[in-house]
Amino acid sequence: MASKTHNRPPGEPASKEEAGSSEAFSGGAESASGDLARRKTAHLDACLEEEVDLGRDSFGEYALRYNALPEMALGDVSLASTFAGKEVAAPLIISCMTGGAGERFERINRNLAIGARELNIPLGLGSMRVLLQHAAAESSFKVRQEAGQVPLIANLGLVSFNHGLVYEDVERIIDMVQPDVFGLHLNALQEVIQEGGDTDFRGLLGHLEHLARRCPLPVYVKECGGGIAPGLVRKLFSAGAAYVDISGNDGTSWAAVEGRLSADPSLGELFRDFGLPTAWILERLSPSVVKGGRVVASGGIRNGLQAVKALALGARWVGVARPFFLAAEHSAEAVVALGSRILTEMRTALFLLGVKTPQALNRSHFLDR
Ligand SMILES: Cc1cc2nc3c(=O)[nH]c(=O)nc-3n(C[C@H](O)[C@H](O)[C@H](O)COP(=O)(O)O)c2cc1C
Repeated sequence: MASKTHNRPPGEPASKEEAGSSEAFSGGAESASGDLARRKTAHLDACLEEEVDLGRDSFGEYALRYNALPEMALGDVSLASTFAGKEVAAPLIISCMTGGAGERFERINRNLAIGARELNIPLGLGSMRVLLQHAAAESSFKVRQEAGQVPLIANLGLVSFNHGLVYEDVERIIDMVQPDVFGLHLNALQEVIQEGGDTDFRGLLGHLEHLARRCPLPVYVKECGGGIAPGLVRKLFSAGAAYVDISGNDGTSWAAVEGRLSADPSLGELFRDFGLPTAWILERLSPSVVKGGRVVASGGIRNGLQAVKALALGARWVGVARPFFLAAEHSAEAVVALGSRILTEMRTALFLLGVKTPQALNRSHFLDR
């Protein structure tokens, strides 16, 4: 963790040191020139294309144990859960996505926030480094009013703390956005494919320890679709993470997204499906990590059946990103419709297992496992 103080007010140009950085979800250096908005818009446009989604179902080989006589009514199923000390309707999270200066970012985050409130599920916000450099981005992240009381997850890249960010930036974001949880993303795969990405990942476990000690909010560490290996999940908890979101590589491929944005797309294409499948990670989590009940599964979760399998394998919550982005491009109603569909599918799966709550799921609910 950088120890220097950092008093630049929001909206002022980045320092020289920061101007040398271009954290993938935030654009860094480009921000001063206005290219940042173009990069973030290009990310969204790329994410509209099906081809950036790996479309892998690593849960496909896992069959749930059907119970022909569940001895319960469908109405007995309750998905109710808690996250960050708040009651939520289900263990389903809208994963961290976007934010920036301009109408499109405001509209998407507003639709996500209204959808999250209607569904009563937690909402992750996109990388906020842009907020520290562009005052105009602030309104896209100020969704507390639309989101009501649902848990909000703030977001910065952990690698940014090797490229200019300091702890005081975390405090500023907490003041501005009023999140319940502070998210830090790991995205080595994305950064190395992005032209000029931030690739100094040295000492970040130490930065995480320092941040987790100082931050007044629980810290949520996530990948961005590359996956976090089971052993690293354990290390992140030991370093102070309150939640670890494994974000495996079943769904959105940020190597593919960055490849599309590069002058030479071949590196992104080669590493398109590099990473760890979501179910592969979950299956290998140590029993103590599963028992700790702080793992979020995301990456390619596209329906409630996959969500229930992820929970039975040991996750406590599941996260969905790109499908919610596609819905939020349309409307808050589309966000609610998508969330409602996933929740119906989850309820259906639980009923067919004869299980009343997601908390009661475990590996005995699979065939032959
Ligand atoms: C449009 C879009 C923007 C994203 N921006 C961020 C971000 O700013 N910070 C972050 O941690 N993850 C970001 N992600 C990654 C997601 O949170 C998630 O980890 C990844 O997309 C895998 O989930 P999926 O397969 O459900 O999309 C973004 C994803 C999408 C689709």
